[in-house]
Amino acid sequence: MEHKESNPGPCRKVVVLSGAGISAESGLRTFRDGDGLWNTYRMEELATPQAWARNPVLVLEFYNWRRKQAMEAEPNAAHFALARLQRFFEVKIVTQNVDDLHERAGSADVLHLHGELHKARSTADPSRIYPISGWELKLGDRCELGSQLRPHIVWFGEEVPLFPQAVSLAGTADIFIIVGTSLQVYPAASLVHYVPAEAPKYLVDPRSEPDSPIRNLTAIRNKAAEGVPELVDRLIAGLA
Ligand code: OAD
Repeated sequence: MEHKESNPGPCRKVVVLSGAGISAESGLRTFRDGDGLWNTYRMEELATPQAWARNPVLVLEFYNWRRKQAMEAEPNAAHFALARLQRFFEVKIVTQNVDDLHERAGSADVLHLHGELHKARSTADPSRIYPISGWELKLGDRCELGSQLRPHIVWFGEEVPLFPQAVSLAGTADIFIIVGTSLQVYPAASLVHYVPAEAPKYLVDPRSEPDSPIRNLTAIRNKAAEGVPELVDRLIAGLA
């Protein structure tokens, strides 16, 4: 016999802001934890327009390495739980992550604020964006107009072109979930301030502070792969 879960009521909108912590249990390193990438490598040498101008080969190698790791990683229970939530709510994911684990878990609506590892774009025209089929982007890989391709990543010091879209989504959230982000990088960290004050907000992070100044915020001090499925179950049951 097939067990069918029922929809608890009118479709409500859940907006999620995710960060590196949601992919940590898939084996991808975060940035600012003890073994975080920016505690091991100098961000100024790898993730800025100046780094690209100075040493594009090094920058390409860094993202090729991360692309390879992302391709080998699998979504974890947190990604899958958010995909399951779509059967009950309208779910919009705003992620700071450049991996594609939300999509591979089945989430249909994912906005990548900081770009995507599996895409390249023209250095001459940012609107020319191309999929990268394997793990490697090389010096000499060009768009059809002849310009060098670069990783489709928002580097430090660059505009975040999708932020206005994320702000619109946040403004219409009935429920807002923040998961696995240190909230140290702006403008992403300010997104919560665009969420209606009365909307319940949840923060899933093993290092979350319970006494946040954000109104209606429940801190869930747990890892994403446990905390997110539990929260999703509560939302579906109408208990959260
Ligand atoms: P950070 O490395 O700054 O923060 C990771 C957060 O994840 C921390 O708050 C950890 O406590 C939490 N965390 C660690 N393990 C976790 C787990 N298993 N479950 C849940 N949470 C866990 O990463 P971000 O906030 O995503 O930008 O960093 C923001 C941006 O800075 C990134 O998008 C990246 C980086 O530079 C670019 O590359 C453009």
